[in-house]
Amino acid sequence: MSLPPGFLDELRNRVPISSVVGRKVVWDMRKSNQAKGDFWAPCPLHQEKSASFHVDDRKGFYYCFGCHAKGDALRFVQETENIGFMEAVEMLAREAGMTMPARDPRAAEKADHLSELAAVMEAAVRFYRMQLSGGAAHAARDYLTGRGLQGDALERFEIGFAPAARRALWEHLTGAGVAGAKIVEAGLAIAPDDGGQPFDRFRGRIMFPIRDGRGRCIAFGGRAMDPNDRAKYLNSPETPLFDKGRSLYNIGPARGAAGKSGPLIVAEGYMDVIALVMAGFEAAVAPLGTAITEEQLRLIWRLSPEPVIALDGDAAGLRAGTRLMDLALPHLGPEQSLRFCLLPEKMDPDDVLRTGGAGAMRKLIEGALPLVQILWQRETEGQIFDSPERRAALDQRLRAALAKIADPGLRGHYAEDLRSLRAAFFQPKRAAGGKGVWPRRDAPATSLPATRATLLAASGGEDVAERMREEIILAILLTHPGLMPAFLPDLERAEMREPGTEALRLALMNGAQPDALPEPARQEAARLLDLGHVRIAPPVRQADDPDFARACLAEEFAKLFARRGVAQELREAAEDVAHVSDEGLTWRLRQASESRNRAERSRLSDSADLGEDRAALSGALQRLIESEVWVKRKK
Ligand code: UTP
Ligand code: MN
Repeated sequence: MSLPPGFLDELRNRVPISSVVGRKVVWDMRKSNQAKGDFWAPCPLHQEKSASFHVDDRKGFYYCFGCHAKGDALRFVQETENIGFMEAVEMLAREAGMTMPARDPRAAEKADHLSELAAVMEAAVRFYRMQLSGGAAHAARDYLTGRGLQGDALERFEIGFAPAARRALWEHLTGAGVAGAKIVEAGLAIAPDDGGQPFDRFRGRIMFPIRDGRGRCIAFGGRAMDPNDRAKYLNSPETPLFDKGRSLYNIGPARGAAGKSGPLIVAEGYMDVIALVMAGFEAAVAPLGTAITEEQLRLIWRLSPEPVIALDGDAAGLRAGTRLMDLALPHLGPEQSLRFCLLPEKMDPDDVLRTGGAGAMRKLIEGALPLVQILWQRETEGQIFDSPERRAALDQRLRAALAKIADPGLRGHYAEDLRSLRAAFFQPKRAAGGKGVWPRRDAPATSLPATRATLLAASGGEDVAERMREEIILAILLTHPGLMPAFLPDLERAEMREPGTEALRLALMNGAQPDALPEPARQEAARLLDLGHVRIAPPVRQADDPDFARACLAEEFAKLFARRGVAQELREAAEDVAHVSDEGLTWRLRQASESRNRAERSRLSDSADLGEDRAALSGALQRLIESEVWVKRKK
């Protein structure tokens, strides 16, 4: 249907986005400014406790700083009501008292056609269900009972039975006046190539209706009862209703349950989903007879930021897991990841629940491993690294995997985890380090500050910026020693470029107190606290405001790591220079700087509500950096 010009603008004007969103959230009134049309709430599109979801009535847009969902009122209605664009328009128009224009005949025809197919599918659901209670289905009922599926489960999942006869469904539907062509188009019957009479696709099978997020039946899965049958499961072909790579079994109910009854679980089969739901794990989905696609991954992430992938405990399961991992790496982010639940050998969730009950399954889910662990296992399990070449090959594979992670902040954390996994792997019996005030770990023996400094020399003012940032970080820690434990992992990662600052960093990591530093750290601390840009830094000046200092420190670390992520890429690009054409190198450098800019931009908007002092700090630093670069250039 085409809408007259101005219709949508008029609609958006009449219905403020805050009133549309307001039905789904409880505003955080402390953070919101109603007079300015500025609203904040916990995000209704992902699970969270803090209020990261921002609505701007003047602009008519929403944006979630957590899951990055964004759009206008229509988009919001589509997302939350799970409806299409036109339906969203209709819904809001009705509310606003606007009359919908007459429907475009071509689009109307298509919509009618789809709903006709859906009606045929619905008739088939009823037919199959009726058959399951008929006399010919006692074997099917026995089979289901044997698998623990009775009453409730049959009801809830609308399980049915396709009789073994060649045209049982065909005759039933045509007898009720359904056109044969529709039955074939819905994938329920197969028309032979020779023009002979169509026959039922599903015969002698247990039938599982597959519904989309809106509850329409779009396909069936049919399970053979005879273990010798050629195909254990037979699924509907792709039809105008069914795009199997974009659908998930049980998506509708799982959407409602995700985050309420535990994490979203992604299993491999229909039976697993049914068993999970019946055992109380209601947020469960499965792909439909194929490996999980990128589209399905996106759907899954819309339901939950960190779904648990339950893999069958066999080689195929592990293969499926590592395939999925490769698919996920480029899209990972702080609120978009996966966990993997490894099942005992030769078992799927259905088997686990049958043999060990819900408790056994719960334990497995709680023990689900983060993706980084699976990555490490894939690259190392069953291998021997008894030569430098093999270890170098391992490093190369790990680097390649890291390079796929687009989010620079997250990539840094992956690098850190992989480094410690690697250290533990190659030195398993290393004694624990000495004890300081803070838990002490040995500084990683990677690049020396001097190497880093030379490598960065090529990038102009970057090294100045980085050095100043390092100084600010240490100064904040010196003035707020209480922040030390929380930032220890960051500090551990933040090797410093100058020998003096590095000595101070190591002293702090080893538990030295600011007022009792060993030399040369003491001297360095004095030098640093006297630097102009440090003295004017608000978090250093405001020694009595630890919360503010914490926010500043988090941001400075994030920026430092974002920059270093880029430095790493520059380094790799330089290593590649012998093999890569100039063009390729330029491209990589541009990519690197764009990703840094992105990282810094997103950090800034993330913490936009930290107050103007923080922005002032950033601005002051930026100006100082710029002026210093300018001085250098003039020389
Ligand atoms: P499995 O072979 O693991 O079956 O296939 P399952 O889920 O454990 O089923 P039960 O317990 O034996 O009844 C996992 C999924 O792969 C698809 C189906 O979607 C199934 O749920 N599959 C499997 C097929 O599409 N065709 C097949 O022949 C086998
Ligand atoms: Mn099974």
